[in-house]
Amino acid sequence: MEIRGTDTPLLKWTGDGLAIGLFEDAVELTGELATLDENLAGSIKELITEEEFKGKQGSSIVTRVGAGSPVRKIILVGLGKPEALTIETLRRAAAVVGRLAKKQKCRTLGISLPIWNNDRAQTAQALAEGVQLALYQDNRFKSEPEDKGPQVEQVDLLGLGGQEAAITRANQISSGVFLARQLVAAPANSVTPITMAETAVAIASEHSLQVEILEQEDCERLGMGAFLGVAKASELPPKFIHLTYKPAGAPKRKIAIIGKGVTFDSGGLNIKGAGSGIETMKMDMGGAAATLGAAKAIGQLKPDVEVHFISAVTENMISGHAMHPGDILTASNGKTIEVNNTDAEGRLTLADALVFAEKLGVDAIVDLATLTGACIIALGDEIAGLFSPDDALAGQLQKAGETAGEKFWRLPMEEKYFEGLKSGIADMKNTGPRAGGSITAALFLKQFVKETPWAHLDVAGPVWTEKENGYNSPGATGFGVRTLVNWVLSEVESTTPAKA
Ligand code: BES
Ligand code: MN
Ligand code: ZN
Repeated sequence: MEIRGTDTPLLKWTGDGLAIGLFEDAVELTGELATLDENLAGSIKELITEEEFKGKQGSSIVTRVGAGSPVRKIILVGLGKPEALTIETLRRAAAVVGRLAKKQKCRTLGISLPIWNNDRAQTAQALAEGVQLALYQDNRFKSEPEDKGPQVEQVDLLGLGGQEAAITRANQISSGVFLARQLVAAPANSVTPITMAETAVAIASEHSLQVEILEQEDCERLGMGAFLGVAKASELPPKFIHLTYKPAGAPKRKIAIIGKGVTFDSGGLNIKGAGSGIETMKMDMGGAAATLGAAKAIGQLKPDVEVHFISAVTENMISGHAMHPGDILTASNGKTIEVNNTDAEGRLTLADALVFAEKLGVDAIVDLATLTGACIIALGDEIAGLFSPDDALAGQLQKAGETAGEKFWRLPMEEKYFEGLKSGIADMKNTGPRAGGSITAALFLKQFVKETPWAHLDVAGPVWTEKENGYNSPGATGFGVRTLVNWVLSEVESTTPAKA
């Protein structure tokens, strides 16, 4: 699919489907639209009346127009109230239009939507993202593709001529989202610690990043007892991924992004029972998938920021070698952990990744993890939890998420709750009481960060969706990639100088 901006006027555009955005309760046709309607013998007006189209956000209608006219189908998409218009409204409108165009077998599609906030570049980027994210298909595991109908091949963004750079940016970012979706959707017999490491190496060679894969012996040497405790029962070797993007000139800032990379979470000896959703636990590397997706996008966008992409990748399995509930592990910062529950494995892998990241001397660390079911109970499956002792960093991430249309809600790091993790025999336990489970998980992670500004994103809910939602189809969403990219790009503008 090719997306381009064009200044071809609405009345001159020809192709299969022409999509027009209309605001709520403002569906009278004026100006160019009135002329277009006249040219089409009043069929747009008729459609609006007949279908009682009110322009509600997300609503859409379509009609065929007479043979011989320059367009075959007219699509109307509702934008809601003009004063409530956001960049995400436009991204979602483009998704609705893309899906409908495909259903209507349009090979060529013209989209005419308003410019948001006078910002043509951001508008072009959002529309290009919305269409391609919505039309993404994954046929890797089908013996034959299900959908053999015509595909949308050409998309023209009307009124957005000259926005090639913004559209390229959208394509680069979307390629990262697609990678994250593919990694999360693939089952655990396909995406393993070995293939995750191979993916990191492939990203490095395609986009000129540096890559280092630490093997089990390397991790042993570094004292990563928490990570290796989780990896013990697996037949597959653990892989510690460290990808580095370095800008051509001196970096403005140095940051680290860490993703939880548990390619399958059986729970370990505290095995997940019936009804626990064990069959969905291939998604437990969603944080690592977003991290690699962001690396792929950043490698193409090339901002003036040094970014380290890190994941301690392993399965959480059972076998005669498995860690026992009650085992005491020593993490690479010397802290000892009584593993009172082997199913709280993500935080054990992250502990050593956090220590590793801080040793790199970065200015900020962000981790993403499908860490707790408790976070899904608290925020549902569309909103991620955001935890940080650092208000400035929390604000930056919130803003990056808003621009991306990815939702984050800040939850408290209530120090007092750390009492729930007190151990009689070691420095801490890995799990506390059921209540406040995502908060104690965040407090656990905090023990492995000394002084670097750090934020933890619990993405257990939004990495997967059961229903179609905006530009996401049922399955893996690629959540996190676009927020991470926005955050990295915003770091270029940061006024705080990088550490020496
Ligand atoms: N990977 C799970 C969390 C999870 C649950 C992710 C549902 C996605 C969907 C994590 O490793 C886990 O098992 N957490 C436990 C922690 C508990 C043992 C303290 C949980 O949330 O139940
Ligand atoms: Mn678990
Ligand atoms: Zn897990």
